[in-house]
Amino acid sequence: MQPRRPVTEPEEAIRAALSNVVDPELGVGIIELGMLRDVKVYQGRAIVQLALTTIACPLRTRIQDEIRSKVTSAHPGLEVEFEVVQMDAAQRARAMSMARAKAAEAAPTTSIPAGSQVIAVASGKGGVGKSTLTAALGVALARAGYTVGLLDADIWGFSLPKLLGVEARAAASGTTDKWRIDPVRMKVGEGELRVVSMGFLTEDKSSAIMWRGLVLNRAFQHFVEDTDWSDVDYLLIDMPPGTGDIQMGLARLLPHAGVLVVTTPHDNAGEVAMRMVDMARKGSLPVLGVVENMAYFVCEHGERHYIFGRGSTEELCSRLSLPLLARIPLGSEEGRTSATLPQRFESDNPGEDLVSISELARELAQHVAPIADMSGCTSRLAALERRMLSGRPGLS
Ligand SMILES: Nc1ncnc2c1ncn2[C@@H]1O[C@H](COP(=O)(O)OP(=O)(O)OP(=O)(O)O)[C@@H](O)[C@H]1O
Ligand SMILES: [Mg+2]
Repeated sequence: MQPRRPVTEPEEAIRAALSNVVDPELGVGIIELGMLRDVKVYQGRAIVQLALTTIACPLRTRIQDEIRSKVTSAHPGLEVEFEVVQMDAAQRARAMSMARAKAAEAAPTTSIPAGSQVIAVASGKGGVGKSTLTAALGVALARAGYTVGLLDADIWGFSLPKLLGVEARAAASGTTDKWRIDPVRMKVGEGELRVVSMGFLTEDKSSAIMWRGLVLNRAFQHFVEDTDWSDVDYLLIDMPPGTGDIQMGLARLLPHAGVLVVTTPHDNAGEVAMRMVDMARKGSLPVLGVVENMAYFVCEHGERHYIFGRGSTEELCSRLSLPLLARIPLGSEEGRTSATLPQRFESDNPGEDLVSISELARELAQHVAPIADMSGCTSRLAALERRMLSGRPGLS
């Protein structure tokens, strides 16, 4: 038998750094699940061997991105390479039974379905376009047939009702111990939006009374825990700017939320975005990538003008080892003010900004897919098991 190679110090440190990487769906650590097979470091490279339930797992990129970001935070400058292998049936069964045990232990306190994808749209800085992007992504995903929850976590500076052109009131009822909030539902294309915002709850007199004081301070928690999010494929959260209480609450209440960081090419925006990413990573929230908003202006001749500068977001992404997921151009003033987002999507000329956001929605639907879209990976197996446990066997 060959003697085992001694584990080196950097390998130990990398393993320690990966100890809190969890499978985004199953909520169990990749080490516990037996997914992290081996780590080797030599010649400036870390070679991470991963065992997945299936090679084609759609979450593979997300898991690898998180591992890469943890390794490079622990050892800046190290290149990360992956060797991916597939678990055999016994290993898969073991991983599934751990996931089951974990799910039973952490009884859900929210109505957010286990297979839905939660994405928080965040930035360190105000006014970069988080709310616009959240609402537009929601509309684009709903038009593609998804049921999309939109949670306006900007409690004091809510803007989703106006962006969507919704005036309806959400129904809130209950006492300080137990609340029940029904989101406003909007049919969009083949899909549906379910929206909750303080804007629906404060203007109505009786609601305003209910949301006073302590309840108002805990509004984000109520929006997460006491809102009917059943059946949503995606839950998009429009975060307030900065790195305050709501951001901390996100990591505590929704530890599997992926964070989409919005920035602009303006001076200083990258620095601020970096603080946001740092906070998300400290809270162990996976960062999906960066979206550069107001990236350029398309003139009437179809040429791009980088009026706020160019290159700063690429630099930010490479420093943070994050993908630049989209570049959204400036939308025309008239387009933005003359119609609501759903109306603009319906029009013949929605504008370059919405075209880019639709592309981003397509990317997300592919790479951050809700459970129903996955084939043959861990979540699919988990879904099958959940159905079997609830007496409804069979994959639909
Ligand atoms: N791509 C774009 N082109 C032109 N204007 C935009 C674009 N994206 C957003 N805006 C405008 O910028 C302003 C700020 O956008 P938005 O409210 O979405 O930002 P925010 O990050 O949510 O702000 P806050 O931090 O205050 O919540 C709005 O007037 C919006 O219409
Ligand atoms: Mg906003």
